[in-house]
Amino acid sequence: VNVLLLEQDLTTLFEEVYLRYHYDFRAYARASLRRRVHAAMVRSGARSLADLRAQVLASEDAFSLLVDTLTVRVSDMFRDPEYFAVFRTRILPRLSTYPSIRLWIAGCSSGEEAYSFAVILAEAQLLQRCQIYATDISPAALEQAREGSYPLARSAAFDENYKKSEGLSTLRQHYSVVGQSVVMDPSLRRKILFSDHSLATDHAFGEFQAASCRNVLIYFQRPLQVRALTVLEQSLVHRGYLGLGSRELLPMELQPRFTEFSRTERWYRYG
Ligand SMILES: C[S@@+](CC[C@H](N)C(=O)[O-])C[C@H]1O[C@@H](n2cnc3c(N)ncnc32)[C@H](O)[C@@H]1O
Repeated sequence: VNVLLLEQDLTTLFEEVYLRYHYDFRAYARASLRRRVHAAMVRSGARSLADLRAQVLASEDAFSLLVDTLTVRVSDMFRDPEYFAVFRTRILPRLSTYPSIRLWIAGCSSGEEAYSFAVILAEAQLLQRCQIYATDISPAALEQAREGSYPLARSAAFDENYKKSEGLSTLRQHYSVVGQSVVMDPSLRRKILFSDHSLATDHAFGEFQAASCRNVLIYFQRPLQVRALTVLEQSLVHRGYLGLGSRELLPMELQPRFTEFSRTERWYRYG
């Protein structure tokens, strides 16, 4: 594989992908995208970028494989536990005053983040009044998320994170072990609607009391970060909560529209 990927050729690839499939990678951060395109070439056996482009434009399966390789889908249950502790101890008491609670997890990957919120809401006896929307662009991730099934080998780390997030009992009571998998409780799954939504091409939907978008914006260039955050902003009720997590920054131009709620975990309030 020729590892020298010319900027112009990458641009052409993503223009054509956008026109053909309406998936928009044009404004993703270039460094990681380059590594991923390279991985996609290796994975598909393409001998050049032109070869990869031809494969992807000719076949939807090849395109799915490309999306699969371009998206970084690492996630974890109660990932960065302090973030969830802030939600549990400081935000939830305020959200509980709403007659119904709508929560949006944008870039939910294989579902761990959405299930983590569902667990917290269940333990606060609020899940019945709640609807969680969890969205992503990766069909493979959404499929796994809907199944709510994860390798048993990961459960020790899940339990550990749960404890660090100031969990009230044990995570074990929210899943069952089936063979070599843990399967999240159906009562949690029923409250989460997993669906396809792109922060790069789709618009705001619904009115949410809180939205969480973590480890997604880091893959975007600044203008796309602003676009995505504007979509999130437009989906929040006045004084709604926006969580970005400790690895993301709210771009300067958006800061006047939010007030900081948790500096370290980057929870903000809209308006
Ligand atoms: C690293 S995962 C983050 C998962 C979870 N939020 C977490 O923090 O553990 C990033 C996810 O963003 C998704 N993603 C990438 N581009 C997106 C877009 N334009 N709109 C929505 N999700 C996107 C990827 O498919 C991937 O599942």
